[in-house]
Amino acid sequence: MLEHADEKRIENWIDGMNAFNSTPEFGTTRILFTEPELKNRVYVKEEMEKLGLQVTEDGIGNIFAVLKGSQPAMAPVWTGSHIDTVPNAGKFDGMAGVVCGMEALRLIKESGAPHKRNLAVVVYTSEEPTRFGLSCLGSRAMAGELKLEDAENLYDSEGKSLTQVLTELKYDLTEFPALRKQQGEVHAAVELHVEQNNRLEKGGETIGIVKKICAPSNYTVLVTGCQSHAGGTDMTDRRDAYAASCEMALLLEKLAKECRSEYNTATVGQVEVIPGAINVIPGLVRFSADIRDCNMETKQELIAAWKEGVEKIAGKRQVKVAITEENNDIPLTCDEEIVARLQKICEEKKLPFSFQISGPYHDTLFVGRFTKAAMLFVPSKNGISHSPEEWTDYAALAAGTDVLAQVLLELANE
Ligand code: GLV
Ligand code: MN
Ligand code: MN
Repeated sequence: MLEHADEKRIENWIDGMNAFNSTPEFGTTRILFTEPELKNRVYVKEEMEKLGLQVTEDGIGNIFAVLKGSQPAMAPVWTGSHIDTVPNAGKFDGMAGVVCGMEALRLIKESGAPHKRNLAVVVYTSEEPTRFGLSCLGSRAMAGELKLEDAENLYDSEGKSLTQVLTELKYDLTEFPALRKQQGEVHAAVELHVEQNNRLEKGGETIGIVKKICAPSNYTVLVTGCQSHAGGTDMTDRRDAYAASCEMALLLEKLAKECRSEYNTATVGQVEVIPGAINVIPGLVRFSADIRDCNMETKQELIAAWKEGVEKIAGKRQVKVAITEENNDIPLTCDEEIVARLQKICEEKKLPFSFQISGPYHDTLFVGRFTKAAMLFVPSKNGISHSPEEWTDYAALAAGTDVLAQVLLELANE
């Protein structure tokens, strides 16, 4: 029988991590391999060691903290999440999954409950795309979808490649091919995460059991018009790259709203207008598109329709357009057996729950490529995330940890 998770311990760890922050005046910013993130790595590894876990780090900085089972040669069971953030974030997105994973392993260890398989808390490197423009670097590499040559071609805003940064930090690039996990190498994985939506709150539920995870497709769109004088060019005689981009963005929104998918989203989150002067018609615009869906077929349909529409808008407005695909990831359907186990545990513990589709992506999207995987959510206050306003009650994190610890223990005895 496992004890109830310790809320205070969870709070202390969350606050402990939050101390490593480059924007304490406004939320939390902890970007991959910057000083706060590196210091947080040291802190989290020390805390894991204090729990008696065996800590290692691989060639891309994924951290593993292992609690040994009685049959350590068997494939392990994983939990975990990430410690990097978007700019001016909250203190729960990612960290909750790491901290609750640590608490779950502590509960299992202290209960003395037998478990055959090793259990591990994994801190995946850079779930957020903040530094290199690509998400889930650590878990993507494990899924074989980020190879050494890809890492050589990923650059941050200062022009440094991922491989250059890893080398400077003394990570061993020769380990790269071995980052990839084969089927069977990991027995199962369950990630706890804050919901980042308000469905649980609205439904009065404590736990969300995730059935599907949306995957992002990301594009960079370059629109070239004609830079000219804002006052000296007739309204009928302009090739305004920004006005054309707006029409393209609005088309994307329209298509996303009309999409027949069970759940999908589309967002233009970055826009660069050049030259960016009040009295100059923009000649060049670069904007991003983030298109997500829990179904690959409907996502591809939407992307094709959008690309076709973008070409038409470009033709009508006499601008040139170039669309670069940054990534086009495949959604995940979570493992039915683990989902059923989570449901049974919530019922036994009399915790109100509902099934959810995750619009946000998570490392589990990639971990689910090489092992059976599922996720559980705990409520986000007002559904807010990627914001300093992000909040989840510690009691909810503790309840989520109880469910997590139980499912990990069961999976570790399969
Ligand atoms: C991850 O944070 C996402 O953008 O879903
Ligand atoms: Mn996030
Ligand atoms: Mn996250």
